Amino acid sequence: MHSRSTGAAPALPPFDYTVFGGTGDLALRKLLPALYLRDKAGQVADGSRIIGVSRSPLTPSDYRAKAEEAIQEHVHADERDTAVIARFLERLDYVPVDVTSDNGWNELTERLDNPPARSSGAVRIFYLATSPGLFGPVSDQLRAFGLATADSRVVLEKPIGRDLASAQEINDRVGAVFTEPQIYRIDHYLGKETVQNLLALRFGNSLFEPLWNADHIDHVQITVAETVGVEERGGYYDQSGALRDMVQNHLLQLVCLVGMECPISLAQESVRDEKLKVLRSLKAIGPDEIGGCTVRGQYRAGAVAGGAVPGYLDEPGIPPGSGTETFVALKLEIDNWRWAGVPFYLRSGKRLPAKMSEIVIQFRPIRHSIFPQGAGELQANRLIVRLQPDESIRMHLMTKEPGPGGMRLRPAALNLSFAETFGGRFPDAYERLLMDVVRGNSTLFMRRDEVEAAWQWAEPIIDGWMARHEMPKPYIAGTWGPSQSIALIERDGRTWHDDEIPSAAF
Ligand code: BG6
Repeated sequence: MHSRSTGAAPALPPFDYTVFGGTGDLALRKLLPALYLRDKAGQVADGSRIIGVSRSPLTPSDYRAKAEEAIQEHVHADERDTAVIARFLERLDYVPVDVTSDNGWNELTERLDNPPARSSGAVRIFYLATSPGLFGPVSDQLRAFGLATADSRVVLEKPIGRDLASAQEINDRVGAVFTEPQIYRIDHYLGKETVQNLLALRFGNSLFEPLWNADHIDHVQITVAETVGVEERGGYYDQSGALRDMVQNHLLQLVCLVGMECPISLAQESVRDEKLKVLRSLKAIGPDEIGGCTVRGQYRAGAVAGGAVPGYLDEPGIPPGSGTETFVALKLEIDNWRWAGVPFYLRSGKRLPAKMSEIVIQFRPIRHSIFPQGAGELQANRLIVRLQPDESIRMHLMTKEPGPGGMRLRPAALNLSFAETFGGRFPDAYERLLMDVVRGNSTLFMRRDEVEAAWQWAEPIIDGWMARHEMPKPYIAGTWGPSQSIALIERDGRTWHDDEIPSAAF
């Protein structure tokens, strides 16, 4: 297998990654496999440690066994190397800690401060893979036990709160212990290869920038579709719903990267300043626009990938009659000079027909046609950035159908497939982001003001929904959401993108 993206990368300083929520789903499915893969790529310096922390009374060797199982399950067979797995497991430790009391903290302190030379030598990182309600209490304890040193770092998993007030409270409380540059708020979508590629596409090519505005772009579509249901996370998800879980963070970050001005440089504050301006320019969706600009859905039993799946209300941990949405479609506008009047249509949902994330930039139609009637329908150009799976950038163009039969036009696609062009494995977003924390680079993390600006826009939508007392519209699992989502865009004379244009020639 091509190894460019996984090959030896420059070594980073040794680190102590303490993972709170160390036995949870995120740690086992994403964090430990990502750290293992970075170890395999030669990026984990000798002496680095990963310390799992949770309430479970496990021994370090129990934890290693769990981690090994997680690697077997979540790392592709091609990447599993017995010797590297053994070396990686050696780096693991485990301390049972009850974060809401003093139990276990002395043991954790003891572990982190020994041998004493480590306190200055290794980058000390606390990853809070816990519910946001614990971010404050854990930070307080880290301070009380003298663990939050001036050069330590803390990583906060999303969601940061469930509305503006709770986000501010978390930010205040964590901010009383760590300075803003020490805080890394993770949004793993920013670590995805193709998402970073948006910066390259927009600012590394002279072709697009002159067209990247309301004069030339008709509208933008962003779809983040999943086939999975709520899995084992019903308890969390039912309190959250698709708007809080996906739109307030992941989709808005994509809106920012599509919509922002060119930053002064790639330096962290420059990029984040530009994203913040987009978030602050989002037009509020007022109570009387909620019905016309947003759609909430909830899946019913159906079939995904040929298998029958239960409805949301029958998933484990979901209370009877829950009104939580598993699908959102909405229309937003960025109220600024570049984008005034250009709708951004967003949709995201669980139990849709495919796992697929993509951004579609639809350009305006040509202003005048010289082609005879019957030459075929002139379709406006589309630029399609496929984030996952099959990362690609496609451009839909009108072309002449080959042959002597006169001028007949047909749309065709220029297709840049990343797998075909670059080969190899694309590192998972967490691999990139976990190492960025070790490097001390927070460009791809959300700053406090970004998170709060995103809530400022999202919260009135949630309030508006609550005030209307409407249940989400049902949709059958395995379909593209409720029919109202199609109506949302078709009312404006547009359609959701459905990529049936082949890139192969005629
Ligand atoms: C997480 C959400 O942030 O992103 C999950 O909490 C969702 O509900 C996941 O499934 C999707 O991430 P990805 O990388 O699989 O698109």
